[in-house]
Parts: sequence; C-alpha cells; structure tokens
Amino acid sequence: MTSSKKKILAISGSTKQQSVNLAMLKAIAATYSGRITVDLYDGIDKIPHFNPDKDTDTPPESVVDFRNRIATSDGVIICTPEYVFSLPGSLKNAIEWTVSTTIFSKKPVALIVAAASGEKAIESLRLIMSTLDATVPANGSLLIKGAKGKIGPNGVITDAETEAKLNTLMDNFLRLLDK
Ligand SMILES: Cc1cc2nc3c(=O)[nH]c(=O)nc-3n(C[C@H](O)[C@H](O)[C@H](O)COP(=O)(O)O)c2cc1C
Repeated sequence: MTSSKKKILAISGSTKQQSVNLAMLKAIAATYSGRITVDLYDGIDKIPHFNPDKDTDTPPESVVDFRNRIATSDGVIICTPEYVFSLPGSLKNAIEWTVSTTIFSKKPVALIVAAASGEKAIESLRLIMSTLDATVPANGSLLIKGAKGKIGPNGVITDAETEAKLNTLMDNFLRLLDK
C-alpha cells in the first residue's frame, strides 16, 4: 500500500449548477481529502458533438483536455443523473470521444447514478465502462434512487443505508487504487 495521495478525476454527468450529482462529487472530495486529490471535471457541456471525421490526430481542444485529464488520473469517479431512461446525452457524447483511445483501459473507475429511478442509466454505464475495458471494483457501482430525498443540498448523503453503500464503494475503489 502506498501512502501518497491518488489523483482522481471526478466527472459529473449533470450540466446543472445546482446538481445533486455535482454536489455529491464535491462532498466525496471533501470527505476523502486525506487520501485523494480530486480534479473536478464539470465541462462535459463544452465538448463538441462527437464526429468520427473530427476524431483525428488533432481533435478539438476540449477533447484533448478531457482525454488528458482521464489519462493522467489514477482513477475516475463518474456521478450522473438518468435522463429519459439512459445516460444524459452530454455525458454519453464525452465518453464517445474516448472510444478511439485506450485511456479507460484498466483504469479504476467508480460509478454512481443519483436520479429519481436510474436503473437504466447505471446498467448502461456499467456496460459502457466494461466495453471500454475499465476496471470497476466489486461493489464499485451505486444506484441512488429517489436521490433528492437522500442527498442534502451540500451533497452529503442523509440516508444511512445509502451512506453505508457509498462508504463500501469508496473503500473498494481506494483499495484498488492502492494495488
Ligand atoms: C430531461 C430529464 C429527463 C429525466 N429523465 C429521468 C429518467 O428517465 N429517470 C430518472 O430516474 N430520472 C430522470 N430525470 C430526473 C433526474 O435524474 C433527477 O432529477 C436527478 O436527480 C437530477 O440530477 P442532477 O441534480 O445532478 O442534475 C430526468 C430529468 C430531466 C431534466
């Protein structure tokens, strides 16, 4: 086990300013600040529409930045709402820009969906990340249903069962990072 802090890229799938997913990532960053440094990525709305014709050796600048931040991280946490029974288009679009690369391959990744229901989004996110060869640890994905009743405005989880599941997710994720 290494004692140095790991660098985590936290990607919010919500473009809302008052997002519960964004707030939760900030709360995770604060709670685990002794063990990780969190680079908060909230720029998915700045990434242009994926176009294979533009996926060249010189892709758009925002794409270069997004890819670099994934590549230079020790691990990634994605925290997202569900939109119309799927991932929000902006998040899916950003991920599409990584398909021609290997930046997610073997990358430790934790997945959280905080939504009203969210079942399709978490299922889709798991499938996408396994397709990209990311390493999601055991219990490394968490669905928070009825998120608005379980997460305070500061992003701190107020529901004991959900909090316990998040702690398990983070323990397993951090253990994987230390391997
Ligand atoms: C356009 C739109 C579509 C939505 N569709 C779903 C859905 O299919 N399933 C679901 O569980 N929640 C759905 N929601 C609710 C969001 O997932 C929920 O409000 C979530 O907490 C928003 O997260 P945020 O505050 O991080 O943006 C939808 C919200 C919007 C704005």
